Amino acid sequence: MNRRSVTFVAAGLFAAIGGAAAIALSTFDVSARARHWPATTWAIEVVRDHSIRSAAAGIVVPAGLEDRASIMAGAEHYRAHCAVCHGAPGVEPNIIARGMYPAPPDLRHAAEHRGPAELFWIVKNGIKMSGMPAWGDHGDEELWPVVALMQQLPKMTAEDYTRLTAEIDQAAGHHQHDTGAMPTPAAMPVAEAASPTHKHDGHSHSHSHH
Ligand code: HEC
Repeated sequence: MNRRSVTFVAAGLFAAIGGAAAIALSTFDVSARARHWPATTWAIEVVRDHSIRSAAAGIVVPAGLEDRASIMAGAEHYRAHCAVCHGAPGVEPNIIARGMYPAPPDLRHAAEHRGPAELFWIVKNGIKMSGMPAWGDHGDEELWPVVALMQQLPKMTAEDYTRLTAEIDQAAGHHQHDTGAMPTPAAMPVAEAASPTHKHDGHSHSHSHH
């Protein structure tokens, strides 16, 4: 057995013994405000990362993840579905995410410790018992661009992100019905995440009826 497997088995054993002890003693506190012991967090993370790494091993990464079109499509999806929990450069997560445990991590660094296949696997399948949803009902062709975007996040500033999302709105012609007031960059993506289409439908309706 290599070192990684030994760690994995140790973490699994530890989790099993800890779990059995918690059941026997009825001491496990399921409150989202009660933090895990450091050793429990360690065991969960080792098992999770090992599982993700082996599940992602067979995934073939498509070409073109560096393409501007991919990154833009990914940013659109990310703003609508991910920024609400994970935030984005210059964008705070929604208040709901703050009460979650484990907290949704800041994804600006995810691509530094996970390869594209692992990121893809996570987005497609989600992470059990964590609040990270599976997005498998979206097609792979929609999910790879999100990976493309995540790979850009480590070098993206708040200005870059704002510019990118403004470009997406422009390309979609989103602003033609606007009142002219500039949405604040920080508030806009989260507000859009809540109801990206309805908001704009409302706009175009009120304009066509007046
Ligand atoms: C309801 C909140 C929520 C939403 C929405 C959400 N996530 Fe997550 N995500 C989480 C949580 C919580 C975790 C932490 C899981 C853990 O600790 O094991 C996570 C973890 C991740 C990770 C692993 C991060 C790491 O450190 O390696 C990635 C990648 C990820 N999410 C991507 C996405 C993408 C892309 C989207 C949009 C398609 C998305 N998430 C939407 C809650 C969310």
